[in-house]
Amino acid sequence: MKDKLEAIRRKAEAELAELKEQSQLENFRIAVLGKKGELTSILKMMGSLSPEERPVMGQMANDVRTFIEEKLQEKAKEIKEREMQKEIESVPLFDVSAPANLDRGSYHPITLVQRQCEAVFKSMGFTIENYSEIVTDYECFEALNIPKHHPARDMQDTYYLENGQLLKSHTSAAQNAIYRKYRDSLVNDGLPIKAIFPGRCFRNEATDACHENTFFQMEGVMVDKNISISNLIYFMKTMLSEVFQKDIKVRLRPGFFPFVEPGFELDISCLICGGDGCPSCKHSGWLELCPCGMIHPEVLKAGGIDPEEYTGFAFGLGLTRLAMMKYGVKDIRDLNSGSLKSLAQFTDDE
Ligand code: PHE
Repeated sequence: MKDKLEAIRRKAEAELAELKEQSQLENFRIAVLGKKGELTSILKMMGSLSPEERPVMGQMANDVRTFIEEKLQEKAKEIKEREMQKEIESVPLFDVSAPANLDRGSYHPITLVQRQCEAVFKSMGFTIENYSEIVTDYECFEALNIPKHHPARDMQDTYYLENGQLLKSHTSAAQNAIYRKYRDSLVNDGLPIKAIFPGRCFRNEATDACHENTFFQMEGVMVDKNISISNLIYFMKTMLSEVFQKDIKVRLRPGFFPFVEPGFELDISCLICGGDGCPSCKHSGWLELCPCGMIHPEVLKAGGIDPEEYTGFAFGLGLTRLAMMKYGVKDIRDLNSGSLKSLAQFTDDE
């Protein structure tokens, strides 16, 4: 029996060294350590040993099992790391120095992501709305439950026109107009309000690699009877899995915005390691992507919708951020640089 155990140990070690994929590991585990596996069948023969031999062999069998399990784990880690590396290398990195073919025009990376998001939401029955870049203080703040002098305004300082209007600091500024536009159909037992509105937003901010005074967001709202957080999670998950072409896990953390209650920050599982932790997600396994929440009753009221009867969710997806993640853009300023040379590398995407 001793020889047999030793043979299993050696064979397992040699076989493991040859394996290259995650799926092969599982087959290997079943074949060796599983209920009908090689090692397990040897253990079943223990009963035929003498009482003196039994503990010695038992100990040895355990050692062999631990040895194989450890090797298996090492191998799994090695394969995972190799797959991650492949994944990192497969991201079409935005390369400011790539040679450009300027004979043909190209879509801006933000336009590309915007179109992808639009296509997915359209297929789920959302309408796409366009809204002005210049809005009133009421639309941008007050209708969103942010009265004058509310501290939440600090984070959204923007550019004001002489007539008191302002450049919108977030796409939420269009919410009020959208509710009013679709309200009649909703309350007459019509369709739910399901709309997305992408747009350019502005903030009076010092720029650096992660901040710009001009960026793009895409707001989405859905209002109907009995809309809940699960609807929100479902739509976000579907959209993101489609955009990134892989199954994306999402999680919600509490977040504060005066126009949603409860409010959340939605994180997605890291695109590179899938949630196990890697340098790109600072080993947390998650990337912060999109603030969202259930629309605050006051906001629905301001849009002419009875919050006793209707509920809804809203999210504010950072399109600029999404484009940076999808195309590996390291410096946000490259996106507004107008440099045809660096933007031309997206020519072949559509
Ligand atoms: N408008 C918010 C911002 O830009 C984001 C947001 C949208 C939060 C919708 C919740 C719901 O900061």
